[in-house]
Amino acid sequence: MDIINSVSEMQHRCLTERQAGRTISFVPTMGFLHQGHLSLLEEGRKRGDVLVLSIFVNPTQFGQGEDFEDYPRDLKQDCTYAEQAGVDIVFAPDAKQMYPSVYATYVDVERLTESLCGASRPGHFRGVCTVVNKLFNIVQPHVSLFGCKDFQQLAVIRQMVIDLNMPVEIVGMPIVREADGLAMSSRNVYLTPEQRQQGLSLSAVLRQSAAQASGGERNAQALIDNARQQIEALPEARIDYLKICHQNSLQDVSEVDENAVMLLAVFFGQTRLIDNLYLLQ
Ligand code: PAJ
Repeated sequence: MDIINSVSEMQHRCLTERQAGRTISFVPTMGFLHQGHLSLLEEGRKRGDVLVLSIFVNPTQFGQGEDFEDYPRDLKQDCTYAEQAGVDIVFAPDAKQMYPSVYATYVDVERLTESLCGASRPGHFRGVCTVVNKLFNIVQPHVSLFGCKDFQQLAVIRQMVIDLNMPVEIVGMPIVREADGLAMSSRNVYLTPEQRQQGLSLSAVLRQSAAQASGGERNAQALIDNARQQIEALPEARIDYLKICHQNSLQDVSEVDENAVMLLAVFFGQTRLIDNLYLLQ
């Protein structure tokens, strides 16, 4: 496995792989890998001849006062996991190379970014889209894999790829959870044992809402009210948003059908957890 830090070296290597007729599959991450990331790598391994993993904690997607400085990092451990997962190239650039002091170009996807995480974290998706666009230009993948855990991110990336005619196939992968249901996240390490215990309720509430929907409750507001009550009963939880949206438009729906996804973001202390579930699939 090669570890490449230089943007130009990475771009040159990927050009060479392409010219040799090899298919490049790509998993972009911010590192501190867990089973969720590894599931993307496993699928990526099957879909390309050359599997590229990027590890870059992208400063432009963090807002003022967010956890950019504290974001967990462990490149050595990540490289061990990556090697076991069959990664061919780890691309780990530093921020100065990705964003030199004269940097001035950003990618903004409209509409889809206005609600949910986009509303709570202004500029977040601008940073995500900019870095993913840059990474695609450097790595030149045929296929790139993203998790449904970040449901809105996946929708926004798909839109960007269509709008900008980017020649890359985007693959969405299911949420990987801990045995007790908590959606895996690099940020779970921030949780105190009490917060982690309460955080478990998020997936339980989503599952319960899906059970209610399957049982015949199709009124979105009723499902939201019920879920909200349960989350508000958790001593350390502060709801950022709790919505039922159409999977494509991310607009709120009033009646639940197969397209309806319940999405939530909840703070436990400073830690913001997100999760989602299709209610009728
Ligand atoms: P990061 O949070 O490191 O996530 C990298 C990829 O792993 C994303 O596609 C995310 O959806 C996926 N992922 C995270 N937790 C998962 C889980 N429990 N199950 C399945 N997939 C999971 O998302 C980012 O980094 C960044 O925004 C990035 C796209 C790399 C741009 O900087």
